[in-house]
Amino acid sequence: MKKVGIIGVGAYLPAKILSNADLEKMVDTSDEWITTRTGIKERRLVGPNEAASDLAIKAAQQALKDARLEAEDLDLIIVASVTPDMQFPSVACILQNGLGAKSAICFDISAACAGFVYAAVIARQFIAMGSCKNALIVGSEVLSSVTDWQDRNTCVLFGDGAGAAVLAPVKSGGIISGYLGSDGSKVDLLFIPGGGSRQPATHQSVDSRQHYLKMEGNELFKLAVKIMSEAAQVALKQANLECSDVDLVIPHQANIRILMAVAKKLGLPKEKIYLNIEKYGNMSSASTAVALCEAVREGRIKKGDVVLLDAFGAGLVWGACVIKW
Ligand code: ACO
Repeated sequence: MKKVGIIGVGAYLPAKILSNADLEKMVDTSDEWITTRTGIKERRLVGPNEAASDLAIKAAQQALKDARLEAEDLDLIIVASVTPDMQFPSVACILQNGLGAKSAICFDISAACAGFVYAAVIARQFIAMGSCKNALIVGSEVLSSVTDWQDRNTCVLFGDGAGAAVLAPVKSGGIISGYLGSDGSKVDLLFIPGGGSRQPATHQSVDSRQHYLKMEGNELFKLAVKIMSEAAQVALKQANLECSDVDLVIPHQANIRILMAVAKKLGLPKEKIYLNIEKYGNMSSASTAVALCEAVREGRIKKGDVVLLDAFGAGLVWGACVIKW
């Protein structure tokens, strides 16, 4: 089995900023409530005609440049998204065309906020088995397209963005362990009822707001703390490492209180938890991807560091990955 590492990262955030002050004019909320309950100050929103693949292309181009590869060098593209351009074809196929990555196998995965970690583990298997060499993984989301801007319980939480990484064989280090899990008994905690084969779009489904995401925030909060802590521990055990060996955790950015509770459970100081939720909110699959890219660019991750990706989302699904950088 080949060792597989991350050899390039990229991110793209749309220019438009929606601040808590802006939201105060849209729903009955306050900067104080949003900041203390979630840690979010602002989030990004796409412009007109900007879809998941448009964000993905920009993030992917940066990741390829960082990896010093051309699009033609890719033989696998996996996009994680719950807000694809359309039901089909995949964002990955649209991205392949945009990049000119003619040799790549392309498919999307649906693993909500854990999508980027799922993509990393899947791409690692392809490369480790020798069936692919260079893989591009992307988390790209336009959550503003499924956010109910009249629902203060959810509209303050989400944002748009994309992050990407290139995976390839490495001589040492790389992804040491990858743990994934799922629990389909809790579908109702976070979902979009309309627009699929169970409830296709009708005038009535639009009028009754069935095409927006619905969330049980309280229940998810408790599960996120428990499951993200456990997933981190399992991935570290698989890597024969302790929590104290971790240099930086790159978590899914859903709520700062969730992340501080996870840090406490793992016995990690808060300085070891990478945070950018203040600037972007929850970008589902893009959150972990963008956080990883920014941590690398800010010099928070150095050669030889042990990095832990840790994510949890609708499904339920979760995943954790230990990477020796
Ligand atoms: N502004 C002001 N008040 C609000 C707002 C708002 N934006 N939203 C809710 N409230 C009110 C509620 O109506 C409630 O009022 P009430 O007591 O009069 O009924 C009060 O604030 C408390 O509401 P709670 O839901 O109990 O607030 P909580 O502290 O649990 O915070 C939150 C809510 C932020 C959603 C939190 O539960 C959370 O972050 N949950 C996890 C969400 C999550 O992780 N989701 C994603 C995981 S998967 C993925 O990322 C896709």
